[in-house]
This record gives sequence, C-alpha cells and structure tokens, in this order.
Amino acid sequence: QNARDSLYIILNYAKNYFQQQLQQHEEGQAIGLSYFKERGFSKNILDKFELGYSLEQWDGFTKSALAKGYSADIIEKAGLLIHKEGSRTAGYDRFRGRVIFPIHSVAGKVIAFGARILKADKSQPKYLNSPETEVYHKGDVLYGVFQAKNTIRQQDACYLVEGYTDVLSLHQAGIENVVASSGTALTVEQIKLIARFTSNITILYDGDIAGVKAALRGLDLVLEEGLNVNVVLFPDGDDPDSYVRKVGAEAFKTYIQNASQDFIAFKTKTLLQEAGTDPFKRAEVISEMVQSIVKIPDAIKRQVFFQRTAEMMQVDEQMLISEGNKVIRKQQ
Ligand code: UTP
Ligand code: MN
Ligand code: MN
Ligand code: MN
Ligand code: MN
Repeated sequence: QNARDSLYIILNYAKNYFQQQLQQHEEGQAIGLSYFKERGFSKNILDKFELGYSLEQWDGFTKSALAKGYSADIIEKAGLLIHKEGSRTAGYDRFRGRVIFPIHSVAGKVIAFGARILKADKSQPKYLNSPETEVYHKGDVLYGVFQAKNTIRQQDACYLVEGYTDVLSLHQAGIENVVASSGTALTVEQIKLIARFTSNITILYDGDIAGVKAALRGLDLVLEEGLNVNVVLFPDGDDPDSYVRKVGAEAFKTYIQNASQDFIAFKTKTLLQEAGTDPFKRAEVISEMVQSIVKIPDAIKRQVFFQRTAEMMQVDEQMLISEGNKVIRKQQ
C-alpha cells in the first residue's frame, strides 16, 4: 500500500463521516439538511453526490479519525487537518460548520472536498476547498465528471458550468452531462479530460461580468484543443442553478437550445459591445477574432469561421484570411 492509497482511504473515511453527520447527527439535520432542503435538493441528489456536513467543532473530525487509528500526519496530508508549525496540539479541522461537496476523480474516488458556509459572512470565504495534495491537483479535475461521464459519452456533448450547485441542479432537472470548473480559470488538462468523452462543449457560465470574462478566456483554450464550443448566457444575475429553479426543467432546456451561440457569435457580440462606436476599438475586435480563429487546428473549420466572422463584422473574408496568415507566420 503506497502513500496515495492511504490518502484515498482517509478521504473516503472523511466522506462517509461527513455524510453521516448530515444524515444522522442532530446538528447536521437541523442545519445541513435543512439548508439543502431550502435550496430544493432532493434526497436522491444528496446521495448521488455524497453530500455531507461538518459540525461546528474545532476538531470533531480529527478526533474521530485519530480514534480510528489514522495518524495526524496522514489527516494533514489529506488536507483535512490544519496544523500550525511548532504547535504541540494536533491542530484543527479544515472544514467546520459547513456543508460538504466531495470531489471525485474520473474513476469515482474521493480526492478532495469543497465546503460552503451556510449564512453569508463577509469575514469568511463562501467556499473553502481542499488544498493541493498528492492526489488532488485542482487544475486537473472537473467537479461532477464521475457522475457525468457516461451521459457525456451518450449525448456526445458536455455542459460546462462554474459551480458545484449548478451541477447538482442540472442533474436534478434531468441534465446529467455537466461538469464544473469550480470558479477557476479553465486549464488544458481539464479540456483534455472532457475531450476523452466528447468534442462538443457548451459553456454555461454565470450571467455576470465575471462569468462572461471567464467564458471568453476559456474559449481560446478550448478551440486550441480542437473542440467545438458554444456559449449560453444567462440573464443578468442568474446562474444555471438559480435559473433552472426559477423557470423549471423544461423551460430551461428550451432556453439553452435557443440561447446557444457559436463562439464566433458570442465573441464578436461581446467584444463589439465593449468597443462601442470607436472605429479603432472595432478594428481591434477584428484582430482579436483572427487571433482566436487561427488557434483552431482544423483548416476546414477555420475557413468556416473566417466566413462567419466576415459576415458578422461586415468585412472582406479574404482580408481576414490574409490577416490570419500573418499571425500564423509570426508564430513560426
Ligand atoms: P459562485 O460564487 O458563482 O458560487 O462561484 P455558486 O457556485 O453559485 O454557489 P452558491 O449557489 O452560492 O452556493 C462559483 C464556484 O467558484 C468556486 C466554487 O467552486 C463555486 O461553486 N468558489 C466560489 C470558491 O472556490 N470559493 C469561493 O469563495 C467562491
Ligand atoms: Mn499540483
Ligand atoms: Mn458567479
Ligand atoms: Mn454561481
Ligand atoms: Mn449559485
């Protein structure tokens, strides 16, 4: 048994522990379960994603794990215990008084946790996440991929959302081909992970400035990996979770069908809006579009996108292509 295996074992123990606190402990039921209920999550979803609760205690989990024979060292290496250098005590639990979202590997092993506070509190982050550990590299993981992978393959399509609760709500609405980037910038590893199951991605980021910015940043990376990417924007202030709750599953599905735009439409519209009527800024938009298109590895797709951009920007297609060739030559 190697070091990684012992981390998987303690992480699985922790998952079971948090799950039990949620389902069976008085505090877990009163605070954690009622929180999930208020947000409308079904028992089925709680079980499917193995959601849990950590008690409002300094070291409830650590004590329990030590009593089971796990060493303080391994609890700390798993990211569950915070130990201050030089302190004579074992330390305190990382997750306290929060609802717990276990993060699974593609194969379904628990590798980390996300943990949400229950009431808004400006002195604390809304979500706390496990630190990087020997088995958890944030940039390699997508939340929900284990629960989604079969459906992604079947539908040959994947929805990419920002948050944990977006994944849960879409599952509950019957949309199971969904993964979350968990609020961080998309990485090449994450895109390659999706590419194992499909080459079609639809980005469903939050309907706020941060969400649009994140979608724009993610686009080029996805294009570079040769995947097809569409974008859906939500009404201002909504994310997939709040929106599906507002309009219901059927209207939500209709909305994503109708509001889905290809990356050219999304990017030109967004950039043109920012540019306003300033002719120099509008010229800059053309150049940015060209920069994105040349990243697409497939020459035929590139051709189609030059055509679409020329139409949308009302400029000459040949001009775009020759600008594209200039960019490519510079890169060589
Ligand atoms: P959001 O702020 O959009 O939260 O961050 P959310 O997912 O809609 O969460 P709810 O609905 O308020 O519960 C999107 C994602 O960014 C990460 C989390 O993964 C979150 O789901 N995040 C956000 C953090 O890691 N830490 C934070 O403090 C906030
Ligand atoms: Mn790392
Ligand atoms: Mn947001
Ligand atoms: Mn959100
Ligand atoms: Mn939300």
